[in-house]
Amino acid sequence: MIPTLAWTPEGVRFIDQTKLPLEESYVLASTYEQVADVIVTMVVRGAPAIGVSAAYGVALGALRSTAATAQEFAPEFDKVCTRLAGTRPTAVNLFWAIDRMKRLFADLLAAGASMEQVRDRFLAEAHAMYDEDIAACKTMGAFGGALLPAEGGVLTHCNAGALATCGYGTALGVIRAACEQGKKIRVYADETRPFLQGARLTAWELMEDGIDTTVICDNMAASLMRAGRIQAVVVGADRIAANGDFANKIGTYNVAILAREHGIPFYVAAPWSTIDTATPTGDAIPIEERSPVEVTHHGGKQLTPNGVGICNPAFDVTPARYVTAIITERGVLRAPYPESLKAMAEAAG
Ligand code: MRU
Repeated sequence: MIPTLAWTPEGVRFIDQTKLPLEESYVLASTYEQVADVIVTMVVRGAPAIGVSAAYGVALGALRSTAATAQEFAPEFDKVCTRLAGTRPTAVNLFWAIDRMKRLFADLLAAGASMEQVRDRFLAEAHAMYDEDIAACKTMGAFGGALLPAEGGVLTHCNAGALATCGYGTALGVIRAACEQGKKIRVYADETRPFLQGARLTAWELMEDGIDTTVICDNMAASLMRAGRIQAVVVGADRIAANGDFANKIGTYNVAILAREHGIPFYVAAPWSTIDTATPTGDAIPIEERSPVEVTHHGGKQLTPNGVGICNPAFDVTPARYVTAIITERGVLRAPYPESLKAMAEAAG
């Protein structure tokens, strides 16, 4: 399995996604500040992986604390959560994971827990999130794999794979499952400017698994669709609003419009932790603006003239009307999404 992140006695070990595919190296985060740094610098990225990393960050905050009781740890706990929550604004999984740790801490405080108990329970909770994430990806894969054609081209954008989760992936989990079901899938991976998650990460991890993969520049998708080479699109999500609008890597919206124009099904695969029923529509999703350097430079080489204006939103919002189905570990949702999302949320309690 691709080792996106792993707990070790020294802290969390991350595969360095800024170095892939040319170098397979690892970064150890042994404090919560270091976990925050690896999230900001995108050593680890992808909504579910960010969430679980933050949970381990909170656990590290407790493990490194010298407080004797949960009560004494409380102000430090707030600081830890605030720092981790301030890393990346769009992926709701980050806030979902921190909120889960906050609920646990409230219970521990109420029970008058010792610091040893806090440390044990925090680590156990982070491990549980890690295991649940892989299980959710596998279940999504089984649901989504069945939706893909027996044979054909599947386009994906960014990296919603094992590297974006604790393993297996969401959109790439669907593709992996389809391949395991014996389907003959050729993956077209958008390179995904400016950070090149598709060209670097999706291509790397699918090739590790021996899945037929072709990288295309982002501006080639329309032409391939018109030529009949794409039979389905599957992407991940960073946040799905209550009405089914969703944020994902910048450029996803373009792909959705192109898929609609060419009559190609457009699927979104995401765990339930990506669904944010507190955000009514996509307009309310905060979009991260990243450094202009990601656009002006590549591999340390300047591409654009000095002083030119640069715009670098890391995500865009795709309106729900472009989505053929949302694939979650709880099942496959269809339009109208406000109703289907609400019904599934209520069914799970
Ligand atoms: O900026 P990134 O690389 O963290 O963006 C990742 C994406 O947009 C993914 O598609 C999304 O997080 C889903 S990952 C299963």
